Amino acid sequence: MSLLEVKNLKTYYYTLRGAVRAVDNVSLTLQKGEVLGIAGESGCGKSTLAWSLIGYVPPPGRIVDGNILIDGKDIAKMDEAALRKEIRWKKVSMIFQGAMNALTPVFTIEDQLAEPLIVHKGYTKEEAREEIIKLLKAVGLDESFLKRYPHELSGGQKQRIVIAMALILHPDLVIADEPTTALDVIVQAQIMNLFKEVKKKYNIGMIFITHDLSIIAEIADKVAIMYAGKIIEFGTSDQVFLNPQHPYTQGLLKSIPRIRSKEKISWIPGVPPDLVRPPAGCRFHPRCPYAMDICRREEPPLLEVEPGHYVACHLIAGKGGKK
Ligand SMILES: Nc1ncnc2c1ncn2[C@@H]1O[C@H](COP(=O)(O)OP(=O)(O)O)[C@@H](O)[C@H]1O
Ligand SMILES: [Mg+2]
Repeated sequence: MSLLEVKNLKTYYYTLRGAVRAVDNVSLTLQKGEVLGIAGESGCGKSTLAWSLIGYVPPPGRIVDGNILIDGKDIAKMDEAALRKEIRWKKVSMIFQGAMNALTPVFTIEDQLAEPLIVHKGYTKEEAREEIIKLLKAVGLDESFLKRYPHELSGGQKQRIVIAMALILHPDLVIADEPTTALDVIVQAQIMNLFKEVKKKYNIGMIFITHDLSIIAEIADKVAIMYAGKIIEFGTSDQVFLNPQHPYTQGLLKSIPRIRSKEKISWIPGVPPDLVRPPAGCRFHPRCPYAMDICRREEPPLLEVEPGHYVACHLIAGKGGKK
């Protein structure tokens, strides 16, 4: 059984302007121990997808349709009490975008980390402390951090605490939403190395969300590219990075600066569409250099172009990809 299976998920925000179709018919699967990277420009629905996977979508958003199977159980149909009791932190934990700046300022690191152990596992303070020390070590910190407050920590140290929190109840899946975006480049690299160690040590599934494709190149086994609420390309890291098929993925990859390359960095002209009234047909067609008539009329299906590599583009459909 897959660790996670998302089928035709739709999560919309109901605003005065109309429904914002932030996640619109997304399907994906993740096996135990696998790392999935999800990349796409800001506003394409990455965070909304992540929130949906822990059953928490901020209002006025909600899951409208689809299934989210975790160990075969559909969490899209669970109520808040069941999600809290059975799923969140225990099976799936999340490192929210900007979480390191949301640590409670008046609690010590020990207090912040002890709470889930005491509440969910019934640990005593002493038992919790022992577990926390182990975990601090696992994220590259020592006992001296127990009594410190968030403001006494550097950005990288705060992010290590947030990662420790996500791991504390040993979930099967950790979702990290832009976990390095607020950090400088050197610390970013250190935190990515920590994630790689965590992956090896705990053999957990991870979903890594970023607007910067280069971040996930080293850690992800599988990669999903999102555009305007949809997954437009999905495959192994090698397939997506070495053999990108969707014009949008190709554009994203060209926009990554490469050391020693003489090629000029290019960016895809135009901006992502309004998700209240997205363009008909392929949502990327207004920005696509290869747009054909059919792209303005019909939504391209996600087709398999090689085993495990899926692309939603009429150029591919024309070349005979399989459904
Ligand atoms: N609370 C909200 N109310 C209305 N629209 C929202 C809300 N949160 C996000 N959106 C919209 O949903 C879309 C996806 O947003 P988000 O999931 O945050 O994207 P990303 O994480 O890829 O930047 C965007 O168009 C955004 O404006
Ligand atoms: Mg986001």
